[in-house]
Amino acid sequence: MYNPGLHKKINAALLKMKIDIGGNDGMFYTRFIANATALHFLYNELYKDHAAADKIFDQLINTIAKAYSKRSAQLKERDEKKEQKGNWYLSNDIAGMSLYVDRFCGNLKSLTGKLDYFKELGVNFLHLMPVMQSPEGESDGGYAVSDFRSVDERFGTMKDLKALQQKMNDEEMYLMLDIVLNHTSHRHEWAQKAKEGEKKYQDYFYMYDDRTIPDTFDKTMPDIFPESAPGNFTYVKECNKWVMTVFHNYQWDLNYSNPSVLIEMLDTIFFYANLGVDVLRIDAPAFIWKQQGTTCQNLPQAHTILRLIKQAVQVATPGMALLGEAIVAPKEIMKYFGTGLYTARECDFAYNATHMALQWDALATGDTRVMLAAQHEILQKPFGTSWITYTRCHDDIGLGYDDYMIQYAGYKAYEHRKFLQEYYAGVHPLSVARGALFSVNPKTQDARISGSLASLCGLEKAVNENDVTAMNVAIKKILMMQAHSFFMGGVPMLFYGDEEGYTNDYSYLNEPGKSYDNRWMHRPVIDWKKNERRKEEGTIEQRIFSGTQKLIALRKKMEMVSDLKNLTWMHPHNIHVAGYLRTHNENKLYCICNFSSSESFLTWFAFKQHGPIAEQLFDHWKEEYHTVRGDHEYFILEPYGFYLLEPVQ
Ligand code: GLC
Repeated sequence: MYNPGLHKKINAALLKMKIDIGGNDGMFYTRFIANATALHFLYNELYKDHAAADKIFDQLINTIAKAYSKRSAQLKERDEKKEQKGNWYLSNDIAGMSLYVDRFCGNLKSLTGKLDYFKELGVNFLHLMPVMQSPEGESDGGYAVSDFRSVDERFGTMKDLKALQQKMNDEEMYLMLDIVLNHTSHRHEWAQKAKEGEKKYQDYFYMYDDRTIPDTFDKTMPDIFPESAPGNFTYVKECNKWVMTVFHNYQWDLNYSNPSVLIEMLDTIFFYANLGVDVLRIDAPAFIWKQQGTTCQNLPQAHTILRLIKQAVQVATPGMALLGEAIVAPKEIMKYFGTGLYTARECDFAYNATHMALQWDALATGDTRVMLAAQHEILQKPFGTSWITYTRCHDDIGLGYDDYMIQYAGYKAYEHRKFLQEYYAGVHPLSVARGALFSVNPKTQDARISGSLASLCGLEKAVNENDVTAMNVAIKKILMMQAHSFFMGGVPMLFYGDEEGYTNDYSYLNEPGKSYDNRWMHRPVIDWKKNERRKEEGTIEQRIFSGTQKLIALRKKMEMVSDLKNLTWMHPHNIHVAGYLRTHNENKLYCICNFSSSESFLTWFAFKQHGPIAEQLFDHWKEEYHTVRGDHEYFILEPYGFYLLEPVQ
């Protein structure tokens, strides 16, 4: 839509910055004009009544223009290459790993020297857990940032980060960093100035003179960490005020009803974009807008902010994709991909947190029905967007899917969740898992689950008891969990250590800055001598590493597992078995998992129901052929077995 006032303003700003709108920068100019009306509209949705709305909108235009003019030629070229590929991030060629730099290998410099390890595994996409400055002991694993633009000395320097990015760029790897959008550390310069009484910075946060407004908010806001950080406000003695702290008391929530906060953070987003970040993980986006009388989660304005960020990034630094880390109810997660006019124009990625938790549900019960009851929701994801698929990450496992999904399988929601909690905390008599309950809410008895992939699959118990049979079962479970998530569509994101079978690390209990948070039990410190055992045939490390490596390699060979809205669930015929079909052009892949500890079977009819089938199927995992037989004959699945079956043409 032509908007003379707006477009003239943009022209003037770009010319002033000497941007060559009629020449080299023509495509940028085109993108800007194409998105200008949307940007203006989204901005006004939030701020039209603000006293300085127009002035701050001009700053928004300048921030976008400045970001583009600071973008290096190399990154502009990379943007173009990505654009030519189409939605580059939907490709089956990408496999990721999320890691803490210090716990993985010390610092950024040594990480640069570890790229061969990732290559060996097949990982070409790294999510570095937060590396920006964050106070020791009050850092929430780096998610309490005191300076968004300087690397914490624990990890090295900005120069080291740039060198790593350059090397990754040269080796065609992708980099993901976090932007912690919702809050800053109470030691951030803005918070310090607010403590000193500067009104400008007090307005960057939600600060109140007394408990009246905080009490009203608290009535409807749930506690995120009910055990370690109950309530949503913290008293600040330096300025005698109450500040909103939804997460820990040292994490101050930014106030996005103030447009200056948005501009500051957008500028920071561009700072990361211009470091060469390929995917920006937007931490906790569900929380960024607050309104009394609500839960202060998933509010429409939070989506408006994300849409505005997306359009701005699309204009200035289009090669950077956005991941919205929304770990919320299934229906709500979906909205982070955008709705209505903004469908597929908000976040490019979201975590498939619903499915992740449901895999754990199916593994504990051996029953896939709850998992399958959720799929119609998960399949709503719009074309052009992608999941991050995973089994474990640095956070807990929340059982946040809907009660009706549990009831559909014939279970009672409360009792079912209680069973899962007891199973994974290792207190249920049938359990082989070794985990712990995280953030138990004394009022609702809600709890999430901590524990590493290996420990939750029974490896810790098996190793402690020196039980070889149980070890074999645990390894089968680990690889089945990974396979099920790797082939579903989306970028698989391994959590470091899981590729070598790391079990829980209880040393966090002796560290005062960590002992209150049992998520540290599944954030291992890598022992490179142990990792060397991946080269010794028959060791636990070798079996898990080579299995994971094989799964990644297979994925890269199969275009039909790209995330192209090309997944069909097989009709359920056996409650223990979950199968899905991936198709692309003429190619098909049946991925079938048996979540039971016993053998299970499917009739061949279960396959034939999904269209004509070849006479033979090749299982890429075991490298075996299966002859398709009569409708009522059986295909037998091993306990915790999985099959990657491609029709032989
Ligand atoms: C995200 C992070 C989590 C952190 C929280 C607060 O959910 O994944 O680790 O505690 O945000 O920043």
